[in-house]
Amino acid sequence: KEPTITVIGSINMDLVTSSNRIPDKGETIMGESFFYNPGGKGANQAVACARLGAEVNMLGCVGEDPFGQVLIDNLNKEKVNIENVEPVTDEYTGVATILIKDNDNRIIVTPGANYSVNLTFIQQYLDVIDQSDVVLLQLEIPLKTIEYVIGYCSEKGIPVILNPAPAQRLSASILERCTYLTPNETEKLEITNDVDTYKEKMIVTLGEKGIEYWSDGNVETVTGYIVGAVDTTGAGDTFNGALAVQLAKGINLKEAITFANAAAALSIQKNGAQQGMPTMREVIDFIEGATAS
Ligand code: RIB
Ligand code: NA
Repeated sequence: KEPTITVIGSINMDLVTSSNRIPDKGETIMGESFFYNPGGKGANQAVACARLGAEVNMLGCVGEDPFGQVLIDNLNKEKVNIENVEPVTDEYTGVATILIKDNDNRIIVTPGANYSVNLTFIQQYLDVIDQSDVVLLQLEIPLKTIEYVIGYCSEKGIPVILNPAPAQRLSASILERCTYLTPNETEKLEITNDVDTYKEKMIVTLGEKGIEYWSDGNVETVTGYIVGAVDTTGAGDTFNGALAVQLAKGINLKEAITFANAAAALSIQKNGAQQGMPTMREVIDFIEGATAS
């Protein structure tokens, strides 16, 4: 049986504008291209898990507007269970405004309906959480919800992966009770002053340099792949989704990280957060191909 992952997180529409430079203060410039695409760290990670064959429950909120419906339809098409995605009135669907200039992307997330993923919302779905092999969280919904879910899961013995992005300072209660933290290098320093205390649960993504984690007090590295990046948006989400799927299957940490690292490398070879997310077969072939050459 495939593992069951529950993702509690954001669902956004990404509005992506590319230009050959970033405008200065008060300046208007002409852009090169535009596209809009499903995104949101929660939805992206849910799609990453589903492409890899897991059963995925998404818990989240969108607005009662055209973007909301497009995003729900997209998740459904990706075989993510959307039974518990609620359209809320009086809120707009979360939007990410993304500026791309070569390999540099800059993102503003306006959460809108994602902030309706509050305690009242979550407490309706504790039975869904109970059925999960792994729960996957990010920081685009209220921090109170994150704290509550982590407390609940730690009491129930359900492993939680917290992808602390966008970074903010985290309480000791969150840091102590989550199972894994997956920051990048800057997020690692933003979530706590005390990395050392929590290092055994940290899996730090270093982009092209790969992944760093700790095992029995020693730092270990999984080497990154050098691939031609087209769009790195969603690389972290692919990593987290793939990691969750492998850990939910009971695969050991080193192998799970190695697999997730390969999945992320594949994802950046296509435009958009979700488009390049690979299937299980694609990741396995990629790892074998890279080992052979
Ligand atoms: O991680 C990438 C995502 O961050 C984008 O899809 C955007 O919606 C923001 O949430
Ligand atoms: Na991509």
